[in-house]
Amino acid sequence: MSPSHPVDPSELTGLGKRYWLSVYRPRDVVLDHGKGARVWDTEGRDYLDFGAGIAVNALGHQDPDLVDALVAQAHKLWHASNVFYSEPPLRLAQELVEHAPFAERVFLCNSGTEANEAAIKLVRKWAAAQGRTPENRVIVTFFGSFHGRTLGSLTATAQPKYQEGYEPLPGGFRYVPFNDPVALEEAFAQGGVAGVMLEPVQGEGGVMPAEPGFLKKVRDLCDTHGALMLLDEIQSGMGRTGMLFAHTHDHVTPDIVTLAKALGAGFPIGAMLVGPKAADTMQFGAHGTTFGGNPMAAAVARVALAKIASPAVLLNVERQGNDIRTGLAKINHDLHLFSEVRGRGLMIGAVLDAAYKGRAGEILDLAAARGLLILQAGPDVLRIVPPLTITDEETAEGLERLEAALAEFVREAKVA
Ligand SMILES: Cc1ncc(COP(=O)(O)O)c(C=O)c1O
Repeated sequence: MSPSHPVDPSELTGLGKRYWLSVYRPRDVVLDHGKGARVWDTEGRDYLDFGAGIAVNALGHQDPDLVDALVAQAHKLWHASNVFYSEPPLRLAQELVEHAPFAERVFLCNSGTEANEAAIKLVRKWAAAQGRTPENRVIVTFFGSFHGRTLGSLTATAQPKYQEGYEPLPGGFRYVPFNDPVALEEAFAQGGVAGVMLEPVQGEGGVMPAEPGFLKKVRDLCDTHGALMLLDEIQSGMGRTGMLFAHTHDHVTPDIVTLAKALGAGFPIGAMLVGPKAADTMQFGAHGTTFGGNPMAAAVARVALAKIASPAVLLNVERQGNDIRTGLAKINHDLHLFSEVRGRGLMIGAVLDAAYKGRAGEILDLAAARGLLILQAGPDVLRIVPPLTITDEETAEGLERLEAALAEFVREAKVA
């Protein structure tokens, strides 16, 4: 498919530079359309999409069932607000709970950060309902985490680079090193902990999985001290790790799980799923949103959920993830670029060797020039999060392009 109408990409990128708030620095690629794991720019060049819109387009581009759901709903009802019922969000909530053995109730919203805001507020409200004073409603989070950009989620995000300049931040958070059970025990020993919030696989913080047993440790400490366990599965959930929910690998039962990104497979939606301990804490008027559970988003998410939860998709995640890992090991055997390849399923981080520290961005440019879109997770980690439905051919071709880009990078690095 060629672009729908002739456009000058430099004119478009110029608009971004002139009119957008300068909070982004996109690569100079103007995407026009996509199909499966492939996207095309306005000049007709094709790219393998190993970034999936930051782990969002879980079913690739233009999935026909998603398109049908969206179009069908567009002809019925776009928006109802939560002062009236409409069918798609009601069914979606039911289907989410049916897929989530830990959950009883669902709050639908529009993004990841909103789902986390709801979860932070729920922990506070739950503690307040037990008569705990504000000082005793502390939420523990972990260095390297990323929970979003609104003030509550930003404060939960224990990375100074995201917080600097936005002080005063809300209080009531306590930060602990990730995967450090002793430090977590100490955080509890200080008292007042009402909740622990973490990603089963830290995404933006470098694709860092929780070590075996760490989630169980969080669960045990929460139980011992009367705190809620809140998992942010916004990036790692919805099939990304090969299970519908990332924590299933660790055999733990969380109290709250937040979802977004792949839940709408490209259409904005977020969700907070709540288990029995806190499902009835928030009552009428305690929280809300105008757009949350929008019928269009919910109609798409219902189809996304059904497809992502299917054995075919989850097995594909496992298989393609293994193939990409094998491919990266082979590339590394020749080029000696990575000190480690980590992650789970199709959430893969290739950590640059000390010699190439800070240079992930250069590799992303070279990859894009070779027709491969990948992401970084910080300056030292290449992040590979393709659609969960990526095919053998797309994986093989993407790896070929990656190898070519990395070989060029190493050549240039040697010359420099
Ligand atoms: C783990 C995690 N939580 C929360 C968020 C925030 O989601 P959103 O950008 O939809 O607000 C992200 C986004 O990258 C994320 O990866």
